[in-house]
Amino acid sequence: MTTWTAATLLNDISEIGRNPDGSYSRFCLLPDEVALREWFVAKATELGLTIVTDMNANIWAWWGIPGPMAVLTGSHLDSVPGGGAYDGPLGVVSSLVAVAKMKQAGVTPSKPFAVVAMADEEGARFAMPCLGSRLASGKLTKADAHKLIARDGQPLPDAWREAGLDPDLIAPDDVLLHAFCFVELHVEQGRGLADLGYPVAIATAVRPHGRWRAEFTGQGNHAGTTLIPDRHDPVVPVAETILAARGAAEREGCVTTVGRISVEPGGTNVIASAATMWLDCRAEDPETVTRVVEDIQKTSQEAADKQGCRVVWTRESWTNRTVFDDGLRNRILQVLGEDTPQLSTGAGHDAATLATAIPTAMLFVRNPTGASHCRDESASDEDCEAGAEALRAVLEELVR
Ligand code: GLV
Ligand code: MN
Ligand code: MN
Repeated sequence: MTTWTAATLLNDISEIGRNPDGSYSRFCLLPDEVALREWFVAKATELGLTIVTDMNANIWAWWGIPGPMAVLTGSHLDSVPGGGAYDGPLGVVSSLVAVAKMKQAGVTPSKPFAVVAMADEEGARFAMPCLGSRLASGKLTKADAHKLIARDGQPLPDAWREAGLDPDLIAPDDVLLHAFCFVELHVEQGRGLADLGYPVAIATAVRPHGRWRAEFTGQGNHAGTTLIPDRHDPVVPVAETILAARGAAEREGCVTTVGRISVEPGGTNVIASAATMWLDCRAEDPETVTRVVEDIQKTSQEAADKQGCRVVWTRESWTNRTVFDDGLRNRILQVLGEDTPQLSTGAGHDAATLATAIPTAMLFVRNPTGASHCRDESASDEDCEAGAEALRAVLEELVR
């Protein structure tokens, strides 16, 4: 424990869920993410923390007795498909290092304190980003959670049972709802901090963002014998919709992404019978997101009509603009120094989900490439250590 650093702890888990290209795919409650959970439990236990896995699939490592007015820290262990090494795990390992340092310094928290590993922050498995924090904060109901189906086809209640969790006990978490604060450290996911000359920044806000699913249906047929005028090919309106999404983003100065498409049945010499695409849209304000998505949906409807296809849109998730707690941010600023950079972000976080329920704050660690959700995500060992030390200083002040 005396030799723990963020880098050595990350190195401990560097083989778990690693893809051949060096990226990571760690999906909630599937074997690699479960291995990370077990690793987290082992490390937290080594620190003398007490483990509680709640029925929302979040793991809590308590220092002292769980209770109201707790200081909470942590992040997530899951990743997007092909994600980086730092998005999520950096916050978890930094929390462990911060606790180790405080224990070595003889700190005794005067408030309940826990490190939390939140479930399916990326929504890569259950199509609901920040699943664990939404459930814990009551933003997603048990009934709606029960309707979620994993990307691999497993209904959420079955996945829960397989993991030894009772899906009927999914509920808002009283301890979380009465917490003093949640502080999440995270790798920065753009180049906002890269050129400012500081290893750590404080987050100000998270821009509004949402995810939509568009299901196009047409008619499967033969690629060689079906004349163009006779086709009802759903891939054609998908293509038009993707271009409309890019056009709308350019026009409105926001960001739209289609990063996932599935075509059925998926044969080179088969005209598809159905195609589904997922749209991610983020902007400075929610009105722009709404306007852009409505625009894209209108184009997709026209494009589907032109091909004699059908399209059905479903909003999978929404996170409104989040401004982090002013009082907490200012307190952190005093701990880290008034000149600490402050940044907003277009990336989603559990801290943003929790921000409407309890005071939350975030620290960002410099990412020289600015890349994230990919193998090239980066942070130097020194910066990771500076992040863990900043988190320690902040937490020590908050548990005082
Ligand atoms: C998560 O990192 C997201 O921004 O979607
Ligand atoms: Mn992410
Ligand atoms: Mn993350």
